[in-house]
Amino acid sequence: MEPLKRKLRDEADGHRPMATDGENPPVGRADWESIDVKDTDVKDTDVENTAPNAALTAPSLSQRAFWAQPASERAPVFAELRRTAPVSYQEPSVFSLAPQKSGFWAVTRLADVQYVSRHPDLFCSAQGVGLGDVPVDLLELNASFLVMDPPRHTEMRRIVSSAFTPRRIARLDDGIVAEANRIVDAFVERGGGDVVGDLAMKLPLWTISNMMGIPESMRAEFYRAAEGQIAAQDPEFATEGKDSTTVAIESAMTLHRLAGELIAARRAHPGDDVLSTLVSSTIDGEPLSDQMLGGIFVLFATAANDTTRTSTSHGVRLFAANPGEWERLQADLSLLPSTIEEIVRCASPVIHFRRTATRDTELAGVPLTAGAPVVMFYESANQDEAAFDAPERFDIARDPNPHVGFGGGGVHFCLGASLARAQLRALFGRLAERAATIQTGEAEYLTSNFVNGVKRMPVTVTARP
Ligand code: HEM
Repeated sequence: MEPLKRKLRDEADGHRPMATDGENPPVGRADWESIDVKDTDVKDTDVENTAPNAALTAPSLSQRAFWAQPASERAPVFAELRRTAPVSYQEPSVFSLAPQKSGFWAVTRLADVQYVSRHPDLFCSAQGVGLGDVPVDLLELNASFLVMDPPRHTEMRRIVSSAFTPRRIARLDDGIVAEANRIVDAFVERGGGDVVGDLAMKLPLWTISNMMGIPESMRAEFYRAAEGQIAAQDPEFATEGKDSTTVAIESAMTLHRLAGELIAARRAHPGDDVLSTLVSSTIDGEPLSDQMLGGIFVLFATAANDTTRTSTSHGVRLFAANPGEWERLQADLSLLPSTIEEIVRCASPVIHFRRTATRDTELAGVPLTAGAPVVMFYESANQDEAAFDAPERFDIARDPNPHVGFGGGGVHFCLGASLARAQLRALFGRLAERAATIQTGEAEYLTSNFVNGVKRMPVTVTARP
């Protein structure tokens, strides 16, 4: 049997109800047969030859094929789940850095995502926040307050937040506007370019580098490693025959090495940056360990670079597809704040985060046992018809817009949300002043079940007179 067919057969077999320990019965399964799913990787005929019945032929959220499709093609599946099985059991993900031992529960409605986010006592983070099981090596390298629960999380987050002093933020804000102007002006003067390389990646890298005091000479390596961490699932990053796990671990190790060099330099010569403050901070009277500082550095490297870049790329795509909205923004820049919220809602840069049930409980009427992995799909919640009027529409004046792009509220709500908003306002504000029209070619998307990345997309802009 060809490798692809064997893989599909295995995945299809793994899709049977109660394939795992049976503790979490598969109630809430969607009616897959009624869903029209296009699959970029897999031909229907391949699947039909291998799957025992038609119900198993549609990709589940556990299969790579599902995530190899653009978000627009995943949308009907999530819509069906919200309608028929808002909290559904999914077989162990075969698209994960390490084989998953048990299946998981997919949470697809906005209200339920908010409920899980706001009850860390019932749904904890300390047992992992990603969809798949993470290899132990990587778990240690990535240990940060993202994977902690109160009260330890509260203490660590307080220390990190205190490094964002109002003076530092104000200085950073001024720098962001000046840098955004430079980036956008150059982009428009050239008539456009690649959305990622020539526009979207630049400001987040500049911002996080300034926050952390990362010198110019280190930035290219820092950026590549941060990208490798996030994008490891995409075959394009598995160069030199490396698998995703190796790519992710090597990238994390590179980030720890860079962090180590910076930490040593700050200890010797403290500067006026966030890292200098963290190096001199204490927890329970002890300085933060190098491992802990490295984990925080990895978190910021990945959280800050990828998400804001992705929002920018999708924002450009959305405006090209909706020229009326572009004219609307140009005519009224007071719409910038609501524009940014709408871009983040439609882009859903982070697809999911996971929690683990701390005790037997219930979510939307579905019983969950202690230890059950519960995965919140922000991508789905941000399209919830019960929360958004015409959710498929890109409406830059949408009000209210209770999206969960930055998380569903609660203790882990995105620490960088205001910084991300400031960057996106600066970029799209300047673009609206400088670019009359935006046109885009075909976007190439990252294959990932974690982030909605854009790898490349050609853009043509005409300058305003
Ligand atoms: C549009 C851009 C961004 C998006 C969509 C985004 C999204 C998210 C999401 C979904 C979470 C998890 C929330 C939860 O679990 O409830 C999160 C957490 C976090 N984000 Fe962001 N983020 C963005 C930008 C940034 C930036 C620029 C930074 C840093 C400068 C940052 C730093 C963090 C940190 C440190 C956490 C962990 C907070 C905690 O566990 O307490 N993010 N972000």
